[in-house]
Amino acid sequence: MATVLGIETSCDETGAGVVSGGRLLGAALSSSMDEHARFGGVVPEIAARAHLHALVPCVRAAMTDAGIGPGDLDAIAVTSGPGLATALQTGVAAAKAYALAWDLPLYGVHHLAGHVAADTLEHGPLPSRSVALIVSGGHTSLLLLGDLASDPIVHLGDTRDDAAGEAFDKVARILDLGYPGGPAVERAARDGQATAVRFPRAMRDAGLDFSFSGLKSAVARHVERDDPDAHIADVAASFQEAVADILTIKAVQACHANAVDTLVIVGGVAANTRLRDLAAERCAAAGLTLRIPPLSYCTDNGAMIAAVGELLVEAGAPASGLALSTDPSAPLHRAGLDDRPAREALT
Ligand code: KG4
Ligand code: ZN
Repeated sequence: MATVLGIETSCDETGAGVVSGGRLLGAALSSSMDEHARFGGVVPEIAARAHLHALVPCVRAAMTDAGIGPGDLDAIAVTSGPGLATALQTGVAAAKAYALAWDLPLYGVHHLAGHVAADTLEHGPLPSRSVALIVSGGHTSLLLLGDLASDPIVHLGDTRDDAAGEAFDKVARILDLGYPGGPAVERAARDGQATAVRFPRAMRDAGLDFSFSGLKSAVARHVERDDPDAHIADVAASFQEAVADILTIKAVQACHANAVDTLVIVGGVAANTRLRDLAAERCAAAGLTLRIPPLSYCTDNGAMIAAVGELLVEAGAPASGLALSTDPSAPLHRAGLDDRPAREALT
């Protein structure tokens, strides 16, 4: 059992969390979301500056919450990609400073592996094989997972254009519902009819890849041209239904195609109630075990990064080293990220 401090700064949440024995000991979170609201999206420089202000207090608060000091830690884990370059750099620089000052090994972690590991904090270790549906602001992927810390991560399907969360954010802008888009669309959808508008289910019968940019355009076309008097609530509910429908259809297909009986849904969009309910319904009908983290673990946080860190320590993975660099577009093939991009740049 290892005790790991995790640091997350890839987007607009500064997160610090302490995990030990697969359980959360303490956490702290600071969001710059409100500072971005008037721009309608995350402004990288504002996010990076907010991380700089919030990082040390967050780490201190997480450690206090956990009731531990630096001497109780076995490792530091930090999101080193993917994400906003300057935001990632802030977290990685801080993590290196802590690792150096406290003489601890440093582990670079893939942000999306963190989202997957978030579920283990609530539901325990993953089975030996599972399918993960990752639905965040920047990514939408179906993955075949073995041992998260040591096995390669296999992509079964990915979005060809927008991510599911991005579609929520863009549709929120089209419908003038504000930022962040996902929760705003979900709130609006509560008063609407999901069957009011039949929006397209792109690539319905075309394998396990996704496409959401046509759906976003269909929403824009509907409210701007086809039915300018449409009830926003109906449009929001119908859009949300289209996203939840296609995500769950393909997730169940992915499990069947790979003879896997556990589906894990993670990432910010996994906070969506309609997606959670429809997934529960369809997994029950298909005889699949469904795992979705509680709402507080769905969006970005430090504990999920600490959770991956502990798995890497326990698996005996090599530490990343202080040459660890950020990789804003890191592909997801492994949970841990080392200093390879830096080394490759030098050769
Ligand atoms: O995983 P996350 O916190 O950050 C990234 O790694 O991207 O995901 C953020 C995304 C945003 O696009 C946000 O609109 C979406 O998750 N989201 C939701 C909900 N809460 C957050 N989408 C739909 N329904 C929600 N309740
Ligand atoms: Zn995320």
